[in-house]
Amino acid sequence: MKSFIIITLAILSTASARIYSGPCRLDEMSARVKTNFQVSPFMGVWYQIGRYDTQTNYVCVTSRYSLNNDGSIHMSSTGFTSGGTFRQSTGQAQLTNPNENPLTGKLDVTGFGSGTTSAIFWVMDTDYSDYAVVWSCRNISRGRSEELAWVLARTPQTSEAVRQRYENAVHASGLVLDAIRLTNQDATFCSSLF
Ligand SMILES: *[C@@H]1O[C@H](CO)[C@@H](O)[C@H](O)[C@H]1NC(C)=O
Repeated sequence: MKSFIIITLAILSTASARIYSGPCRLDEMSARVKTNFQVSPFMGVWYQIGRYDTQTNYVCVTSRYSLNNDGSIHMSSTGFTSGGTFRQSTGQAQLTNPNENPLTGKLDVTGFGSGTTSAIFWVMDTDYSDYAVVWSCRNISRGRSEELAWVLARTPQTSEAVRQRYENAVHASGLVLDAIRLTNQDATFCSSLF
């Protein structure tokens, strides 16, 4: 019995992101995605405050979003592996429904090492100036889906007030706060990696 429990815990703790038994819950999340989304105020630098666990739990992750002339979004992220190796990755995003009015925060992203395969990147909530909650999902084998979620902030450390707001946003977005693992953004630690 004891070994069964240990094995179960080991499997749970290495589980990648959150696996659901059905396809991506697009309808449910569509009802919660950010409405009246504005692209320009969402651009700029975002620090990764936390995310659903994955096999690549990078630390000191920073993303830079900027508008291209054609209205697409250039995305660049930097971070370090737990072993301290620098990683940089870039991608392109566009609004899924650029002609909808008002806009929703639904983006499609290509790149980030996945070539031309696009992934959904839905801004569930943001106030543009302090925090953002982003959701992604892909269908996987046996009719299941795998979700990813990120909490981003404009500063590497957040105040108690901002933490309260992004936690509420995670709940209201239908995401699991307990599954969000905080990203190490300690200033001394992060600057020591460079
Ligand atoms: C996943 O599968 C569902 C049902 O087949 C489909 O509607 C959806 O577009 C697929 N992709 C994503 C990212 O949800």
